Amino acid sequence: MNLNDCYNFDDFRKLAKKNLPAPIFHYIDGGADDETTLKRNTESFLKCDLVPNILASVGEPDLSTTVFGQKIDLPIFLSPTAMQRLYHHDGDKASARAAEKFGTFYSMSTMATSSIEEIANISGGPKLFQLYIHKDQGLTDNLIDRCKSSGFKAMCLTVDTVVAGNRERDHRWGFTTPPKLTLKSLMSFAMHPKWSFNYLTHEKFQLANVSHWTKKGSSIAKGVMDYINEQYDPAMSWKDAEYVVKKWGRPFALKGVMSVEDAKRAVDIGASAIILSNHGGRQLDGSRSPFDQLPAIADAVGGKIEIILDGGIRRGTHVLKALSLGATACSFGKGFLFALGAGGQKGVEQILTRMRDEIRRDMILLGCKSIKELNKTKIAYR
Ligand code: LAC
Repeated sequence: MNLNDCYNFDDFRKLAKKNLPAPIFHYIDGGADDETTLKRNTESFLKCDLVPNILASVGEPDLSTTVFGQKIDLPIFLSPTAMQRLYHHDGDKASARAAEKFGTFYSMSTMATSSIEEIANISGGPKLFQLYIHKDQGLTDNLIDRCKSSGFKAMCLTVDTVVAGNRERDHRWGFTTPPKLTLKSLMSFAMHPKWSFNYLTHEKFQLANVSHWTKKGSSIAKGVMDYINEQYDPAMSWKDAEYVVKKWGRPFALKGVMSVEDAKRAVDIGASAIILSNHGGRQLDGSRSPFDQLPAIADAVGGKIEIILDGGIRRGTHVLKALSLGATACSFGKGFLFALGAGGQKGVEQILTRMRDEIRRDMILLGCKSIKELNKTKIAYR
Protein backbone atom coordinates (compact mmCIF):
# COMPACT_ATOMS: atom_id res chain seq x y z
CA MET A 1 0.00 0.00 0.00
CA ASN A 2 1.30 3.49 -0.81
CA LEU A 3 0.02 7.04 -0.83
CA ASN A 4 -1.58 6.70 -4.26
CA ASP A 5 -3.81 3.96 -2.86
CA CYS A 6 -5.20 6.31 -0.19
CA TYR A 7 -8.66 7.48 -1.18
CA ASN A 8 -10.25 8.03 2.20
CA PHE A 9 -9.67 8.36 5.95
CA ASP A 10 -9.45 4.60 6.50
CA ASP A 11 -6.80 4.24 3.82
CA PHE A 12 -4.59 6.97 5.34
CA ARG A 13 -5.13 5.43 8.76
CA LYS A 14 -4.06 2.01 7.51
CA LEU A 15 -0.90 3.35 5.92
CA ALA A 16 -0.06 5.41 9.03
CA LYS A 17 -0.54 2.28 11.15
CA LYS A 18 1.92 0.45 8.92
CA ASN A 19 4.51 3.28 9.10
CA LEU A 20 4.33 4.25 12.77
CA PRO A 21 5.49 2.47 15.92
CA ALA A 22 2.44 1.27 17.85
CA PRO A 23 2.62 3.73 20.82
CA ILE A 24 2.58 6.65 18.37
CA PHE A 25 -0.20 5.28 16.18
CA HIS A 26 -2.35 4.61 19.24
CA TYR A 27 -1.71 8.08 20.65
CA ILE A 28 -3.33 9.57 17.52
CA ASP A 29 -6.00 6.90 17.10
CA GLY A 30 -7.20 6.62 20.68
CA GLY A 31 -9.75 8.38 22.84
CA ALA A 32 -10.67 8.49 26.52
CA ASP A 33 -12.11 5.61 28.59
CA ASP A 34 -14.32 3.39 26.41
CA GLU A 35 -13.91 5.66 23.38
CA THR A 36 -17.70 5.99 23.01
CA THR A 37 -17.49 9.72 22.29
CA LEU A 38 -14.68 9.14 19.83
CA LYS A 39 -16.92 6.76 17.84
CA ARG A 40 -20.03 8.88 18.19
CA ASN A 41 -18.32 11.96 16.79
CA THR A 42 -18.38 10.34 13.34
CA GLU A 43 -21.51 8.22 13.74
CA SER A 44 -23.65 11.27 14.49
CA PHE A 45 -23.26 12.48 10.90
CA LEU A 46 -25.44 9.49 9.92
CA LYS A 47 -28.46 10.82 11.79
CA CYS A 48 -29.41 13.13 8.95
CA ASP A 49 -29.23 13.12 5.18
CA LEU A 50 -28.47 15.66 2.50
CA VAL A 51 -31.32 16.68 0.22
CA PRO A 52 -30.11 17.87 -3.19
CA ASN A 53 -31.72 20.38 -5.51
CA ILE A 54 -31.51 19.61 -9.20
CA LEU A 55 -30.93 21.71 -12.32
CA ALA A 56 -29.25 24.42 -10.25
CA SER A 57 -26.77 25.39 -12.97
CA VAL A 58 -23.89 25.29 -10.50
CA GLY A 59 -20.96 25.18 -12.92
CA GLU A 60 -17.89 25.69 -10.75
CA PRO A 61 -18.84 26.07 -7.06
CA ASP A 62 -17.03 28.54 -4.80
CA LEU A 63 -15.66 26.61 -1.80
CA SER A 64 -14.28 29.64 0.03
CA THR A 65 -15.46 30.93 3.38
CA THR A 66 -14.28 33.55 5.85
CA VAL A 67 -13.19 32.65 9.35
CA PHE A 68 -11.07 34.59 11.87
CA GLY A 69 -11.32 37.55 9.46
CA GLN A 70 -9.49 35.53 6.82
CA LYS A 71 -10.85 34.26 3.53
CA ILE A 72 -9.89 30.60 3.13
CA ASP A 73 -10.21 28.59 -0.08
CA LEU A 74 -11.63 25.52 1.63
CA PRO A 75 -14.24 25.32 4.41
CA ILE A 76 -11.97 22.99 6.40
CA PHE A 77 -8.64 23.55 8.11
CA LEU A 78 -6.08 21.65 10.19
CA SER A 79 -6.87 21.40 13.91
CA PRO A 80 -4.06 22.14 16.36
CA THR A 81 -2.40 18.87 17.32
CA ALA A 82 0.59 18.10 19.51
CA MET A 83 3.97 16.57 18.64
CA GLN A 84 3.68 16.28 14.87
CA ARG A 85 7.41 15.52 14.61
CA LEU A 86 6.54 12.01 15.83
CA TYR A 87 4.24 11.28 12.90
CA HIS A 88 6.75 12.41 10.29
CA HIS A 89 10.22 13.90 10.66
CA ASP A 90 9.06 17.13 8.93
CA GLY A 91 6.27 17.49 11.50
CA ASP A 92 4.56 20.87 11.71
CA LYS A 93 6.57 22.20 8.78
CA ALA A 94 4.97 19.62 6.49
CA SER A 95 1.44 20.46 7.65
CA ALA A 96 1.99 24.22 7.58
CA ARG A 97 3.33 24.05 4.02
CA ALA A 98 0.50 21.80 2.85
CA ALA A 99 -2.17 24.06 4.43
CA GLU A 100 -0.62 27.13 2.79
CA LYS A 101 -0.76 25.44 -0.63
CA PHE A 102 -4.47 24.81 -0.15
CA GLY A 103 -5.18 28.34 1.09
CA THR A 104 -6.39 27.26 4.51
CA PHE A 105 -5.37 27.55 8.18
CA TYR A 106 -2.55 25.57 9.71
CA SER A 107 -2.95 25.49 13.49
CA MET A 108 -0.08 25.22 15.92
CA SER A 109 -0.39 23.47 19.26
CA THR A 110 1.30 24.82 22.39
CA MET A 111 2.86 21.32 22.37
CA ALA A 112 4.15 21.64 18.81
CA THR A 113 7.57 20.31 17.86
CA SER A 114 8.43 23.38 15.75
CA SER A 115 8.45 26.83 17.28
CA ILE A 116 6.15 29.76 16.55
CA GLU A 117 9.09 31.58 14.93
CA GLU A 118 10.22 28.62 12.79
CA ILE A 119 6.78 28.17 11.28
CA ALA A 120 6.32 31.92 10.75
CA ASN A 121 9.58 31.81 8.76
CA ILE A 122 8.61 29.00 6.44
CA SER A 123 4.91 29.72 5.86
CA GLY A 124 3.11 32.86 4.75
CA GLY A 125 -0.26 31.09 5.00
CA PRO A 126 -2.87 31.88 7.66
CA LYS A 127 -1.85 30.56 11.08
CA LEU A 128 -3.81 29.88 14.26
CA PHE A 129 -2.14 29.28 17.61
CA GLN A 130 -3.68 27.00 20.24
CA LEU A 131 -2.99 28.14 23.78
CA TYR A 132 -3.11 26.36 27.12
CA ILE A 133 -3.19 28.38 30.33
CA HIS A 134 -0.04 27.30 32.15
CA LYS A 135 0.35 27.24 35.89
CA ASP A 136 3.24 29.57 35.16
CA GLN A 137 1.53 32.77 33.94
CA GLY A 138 4.84 34.02 32.51
CA LEU A 139 4.87 31.19 29.97
CA THR A 140 1.30 31.89 28.85
CA ASP A 141 2.16 35.57 28.33
CA ASN A 142 5.37 34.66 26.54
CA LEU A 143 3.45 32.51 24.01
CA ILE A 144 0.87 35.24 23.32
CA ASP A 145 3.57 37.88 22.79
CA ARG A 146 5.54 35.66 20.42
CA CYS A 147 2.46 34.85 18.32
CA LYS A 148 1.76 38.56 18.04
CA SER A 149 5.21 39.41 16.81
CA SER A 150 5.31 36.41 14.46
CA GLY A 151 2.15 37.43 12.61
CA PHE A 152 -0.20 34.67 13.72
CA LYS A 153 -3.66 35.56 12.49
CA ALA A 154 -5.74 33.96 15.24
CA MET A 155 -5.56 32.25 18.61
CA CYS A 156 -7.71 29.68 20.35
CA LEU A 157 -7.74 28.82 24.01
CA THR A 158 -8.39 25.15 24.75
CA VAL A 159 -10.91 24.93 27.57
CA ASP A 160 -11.69 21.20 27.66
CA THR A 161 -8.34 19.94 28.91
CA VAL A 162 -8.00 21.33 32.43
CA VAL A 163 -7.03 17.79 33.41
CA ALA A 164 -6.00 15.06 31.01
CA GLY A 165 -8.58 12.54 29.80
CA ASN A 166 -8.00 8.89 30.61
CA ARG A 167 -6.34 7.53 27.48
CA GLU A 168 -5.88 3.88 28.33
CA ARG A 169 -4.06 3.08 25.09
CA ASP A 170 -1.30 5.49 26.17
CA HIS A 171 -1.04 3.69 29.52
CA ARG A 172 -0.88 0.33 27.79
CA TRP A 173 1.78 1.34 25.27
CA GLY A 174 3.76 3.51 27.65
CA PHE A 175 3.51 6.54 25.35
CA THR A 176 5.69 9.44 26.48
CA THR A 177 7.00 12.74 25.14
CA PRO A 178 9.69 12.30 23.91
CA PRO A 179 9.24 8.57 23.18
CA LYS A 180 10.93 6.33 25.71
CA LEU A 181 12.07 2.82 25.00
CA THR A 182 10.33 0.40 27.31
CA LEU A 183 10.32 -3.37 27.11
CA LYS A 184 6.91 -3.25 25.45
CA SER A 185 7.59 -0.43 22.97
CA LEU A 186 11.11 -1.57 22.03
CA MET A 187 9.77 -4.28 19.74
CA SER A 188 7.50 -1.85 17.96
CA PHE A 189 10.32 0.67 17.35
CA ALA A 190 12.53 -2.16 16.08
CA MET A 191 9.79 -3.27 13.68
CA HIS A 192 9.68 0.23 12.16
CA PRO A 193 13.33 0.76 11.25
CA LYS A 194 12.57 3.46 8.66
CA TRP A 195 10.67 5.55 11.19
CA SER A 196 13.34 4.95 13.84
CA PHE A 197 16.13 5.92 11.42
CA ASN A 198 14.35 9.14 10.42
CA TYR A 199 13.56 9.94 14.03
CA LEU A 200 17.19 9.64 15.03
CA THR A 201 18.76 11.34 12.00
CA HIS A 202 16.55 14.44 11.72
CA GLU A 203 16.12 17.52 13.85
CA LYS A 204 16.04 16.69 17.55
CA PHE A 205 12.59 16.16 19.07
CA GLN A 206 11.50 18.94 21.41
CA LEU A 207 8.38 20.76 22.50
CA ALA A 208 9.84 23.75 20.72
CA ASN A 209 7.56 26.47 22.12
CA VAL A 210 8.18 25.67 25.75
CA SER A 211 11.58 23.91 25.91
CA HIS A 212 13.26 27.19 26.95
CA TRP A 213 10.98 27.18 30.00
CA THR A 214 10.81 23.49 30.99
CA LYS A 215 12.90 20.46 30.01
CA LYS A 216 9.97 18.16 30.77
CA GLY A 217 8.48 16.77 27.59
CA SER A 218 11.56 17.72 25.56
CA SER A 219 14.61 16.13 27.14
CA ILE A 220 12.90 14.62 30.18
CA ALA A 221 10.40 11.97 29.05
CA LYS A 222 6.89 12.32 30.48
CA GLY A 223 3.58 10.59 29.89
CA VAL A 224 1.36 13.07 28.01
CA MET A 225 -1.36 12.84 30.64
CA ASP A 226 1.20 13.57 33.38
CA TYR A 227 2.57 16.45 31.34
CA ILE A 228 -0.87 18.03 30.97
CA ASN A 229 -1.67 17.58 34.65
CA GLU A 230 1.65 19.11 35.71
CA GLN A 231 1.81 22.08 33.34
CA TYR A 232 -1.74 23.31 32.83
CA ASP A 233 -3.85 25.18 35.32
CA PRO A 234 -6.85 23.09 36.46
CA ALA A 235 -8.39 26.19 38.05
CA MET A 236 -8.70 28.04 34.71
CA SER A 237 -11.76 30.30 34.70
CA TRP A 238 -13.73 32.78 32.56
CA LYS A 239 -11.49 35.49 34.00
CA ASP A 240 -8.46 33.82 32.38
CA ALA A 241 -10.29 33.61 29.06
CA GLU A 242 -11.16 37.31 29.24
CA TYR A 243 -7.54 38.09 30.03
CA VAL A 244 -6.39 36.27 26.88
CA VAL A 245 -9.07 37.95 24.70
CA LYS A 246 -7.77 41.35 25.83
CA LYS A 247 -4.06 40.59 25.74
CA TRP A 248 -4.30 38.97 22.30
CA GLY A 249 -6.64 41.57 20.76
CA ARG A 250 -7.04 39.70 17.45
CA PRO A 251 -9.52 37.05 16.20
CA PHE A 252 -9.98 34.62 19.05
CA ALA A 253 -11.82 31.33 19.71
CA LEU A 254 -12.64 29.27 22.76
CA LYS A 255 -11.92 25.67 21.76
CA GLY A 256 -13.99 22.99 23.42
CA VAL A 257 -17.27 24.85 23.91
CA MET A 258 -20.20 22.40 23.96
CA SER A 259 -23.09 23.98 25.88
CA VAL A 260 -25.46 26.71 24.71
CA GLU A 261 -24.85 28.63 27.93
CA ASP A 262 -21.07 28.69 27.37
CA ALA A 263 -21.48 29.64 23.71
CA LYS A 264 -23.49 32.70 24.79
CA ARG A 265 -20.88 33.58 27.37
CA ALA A 266 -18.17 33.34 24.71
CA VAL A 267 -20.04 36.04 22.79
CA ASP A 268 -20.23 38.15 25.96
CA ILE A 269 -16.47 38.05 26.62
CA GLY A 270 -15.72 39.19 23.08
CA ALA A 271 -14.53 35.95 21.47
CA SER A 272 -14.95 36.09 17.70
CA ALA A 273 -15.38 32.32 17.35
CA ILE A 274 -16.11 29.13 19.23
CA ILE A 275 -14.71 25.76 18.29
CA LEU A 276 -17.41 23.23 19.00
CA SER A 277 -15.29 20.26 20.02
CA ASN A 278 -14.81 17.49 22.56
CA HIS A 279 -11.09 17.22 21.79
CA GLY A 280 -11.60 14.33 19.37
CA GLY A 281 -13.15 12.17 22.10
CA ARG A 282 -9.89 12.29 24.06
CA GLN A 283 -11.21 14.08 27.16
CA LEU A 284 -14.69 13.53 28.65
CA ASP A 285 -15.92 10.18 27.40
CA GLY A 286 -19.71 9.99 27.20
CA SER A 287 -19.91 13.64 26.22
CA ARG A 288 -22.06 14.72 23.31
CA SER A 289 -20.77 14.92 19.77
CA PRO A 290 -20.16 18.39 18.31
CA PHE A 291 -22.39 17.60 15.32
CA ASP A 292 -25.33 16.62 17.56
CA GLN A 293 -24.93 19.83 19.51
CA LEU A 294 -24.55 22.08 16.48
CA PRO A 295 -28.24 22.92 15.80
CA ALA A 296 -28.82 24.18 19.36
CA ILE A 297 -25.61 26.21 19.32
CA ALA A 298 -26.36 27.71 15.89
CA ASP A 299 -29.84 28.61 17.09
CA ALA A 300 -28.49 30.44 20.14
CA VAL A 301 -25.42 32.25 18.78
CA GLY A 302 -25.47 31.88 14.97
CA GLY A 303 -24.69 35.23 13.35
CA LYS A 304 -23.16 36.57 16.60
CA ILE A 305 -20.01 34.48 16.61
CA GLU A 306 -18.25 32.15 14.17
CA ILE A 307 -18.92 28.46 14.82
CA ILE A 308 -16.21 25.99 13.90
CA LEU A 309 -17.12 22.33 14.05
CA ASP A 310 -14.28 20.01 15.08
CA GLY A 311 -14.72 16.29 15.63
CA GLY A 312 -15.44 13.16 13.66
CA ILE A 313 -14.96 14.65 10.17
CA ARG A 314 -14.00 11.94 7.69
CA ARG A 315 -15.71 13.01 4.49
CA GLY A 316 -16.56 16.08 2.45
CA THR A 317 -20.24 15.32 3.07
CA HIS A 318 -19.63 15.65 6.82
CA VAL A 319 -18.34 19.17 6.21
CA LEU A 320 -21.35 19.97 4.02
CA LYS A 321 -23.79 18.73 6.66
CA ALA A 322 -22.11 20.86 9.33
CA LEU A 323 -22.11 23.96 7.14
CA SER A 324 -25.79 23.39 6.29
CA LEU A 325 -26.63 23.36 10.00
CA GLY A 326 -24.86 26.63 10.72
CA ALA A 327 -21.11 26.01 11.05
CA THR A 328 -18.87 28.70 9.56
CA ALA A 329 -16.08 26.19 8.86
CA CYS A 330 -14.83 22.80 10.06
CA SER A 331 -11.50 21.51 11.27
CA PHE A 332 -10.06 18.02 11.53
CA GLY A 333 -7.18 16.45 13.43
CA LYS A 334 -6.92 12.68 13.07
CA GLY A 335 -7.55 12.78 9.31
CA PHE A 336 -4.58 14.97 8.49
CA LEU A 337 -2.35 13.36 11.15
CA PHE A 338 -2.82 9.92 9.62
CA ALA A 339 -2.03 11.47 6.24
CA LEU A 340 1.10 13.05 7.74
CA GLY A 341 2.11 9.66 9.10
CA ALA A 342 1.30 8.06 5.76
CA GLY A 343 3.42 10.41 3.64
CA GLY A 344 4.59 13.67 5.26
CA GLN A 345 3.70 16.89 3.41
CA LYS A 346 2.63 14.89 0.33
CA GLY A 347 0.26 12.90 2.52
CA VAL A 348 -1.36 16.02 3.99
CA GLU A 349 -1.67 17.48 0.48
CA GLN A 350 -3.26 14.25 -0.66
CA ILE A 351 -5.95 14.24 2.03
CA LEU A 352 -6.65 17.93 1.43
CA THR A 353 -7.00 17.15 -2.28
CA ARG A 354 -9.44 14.34 -1.50
CA MET A 355 -11.42 16.64 0.81
CA ARG A 356 -11.47 19.48 -1.71
CA ASP A 357 -12.57 17.15 -4.51
CA GLU A 358 -15.31 15.65 -2.39
CA ILE A 359 -16.64 19.02 -1.23
CA ARG A 360 -16.55 20.41 -4.78
CA ARG A 361 -18.23 17.39 -6.36
CA ASP A 362 -20.87 17.13 -3.64
CA MET A 363 -21.70 20.83 -3.81
CA ILE A 364 -22.42 20.39 -7.51
CA LEU A 365 -24.53 17.31 -6.75
CA LEU A 366 -26.38 19.24 -4.02
CA GLY A 367 -27.04 22.17 -6.34
CA CYS A 368 -25.02 24.76 -4.37
CA LYS A 369 -22.94 27.47 -5.99
CA SER A 370 -21.38 28.72 -2.77
CA ILE A 371 -21.05 27.89 0.92
CA LYS A 372 -23.66 30.57 1.70
CA GLU A 373 -26.27 28.51 -0.16
CA LEU A 374 -25.86 25.64 2.29
CA ASN A 375 -28.63 25.87 4.87
CA LYS A 376 -31.14 23.79 6.82
CA THR A 377 -33.22 23.09 3.72
CA LYS A 378 -30.40 20.78 2.57
CA ILE A 379 -30.87 18.51 5.60
CA ALA A 380 -33.55 15.98 6.54
CA TYR A 381 -33.53 13.93 9.76
CA ARG A 382 -34.40 10.22 9.73
C1 LAC B 1 -3.97 15.62 23.28
C2 LAC B 1 -3.55 16.99 23.69
C3 LAC B 1 -2.14 17.16 23.97
O1 LAC B 1 -5.13 15.47 22.93
O2 LAC B 1 -4.07 17.95 22.83
O3 LAC B 1 -3.18 14.66 23.36
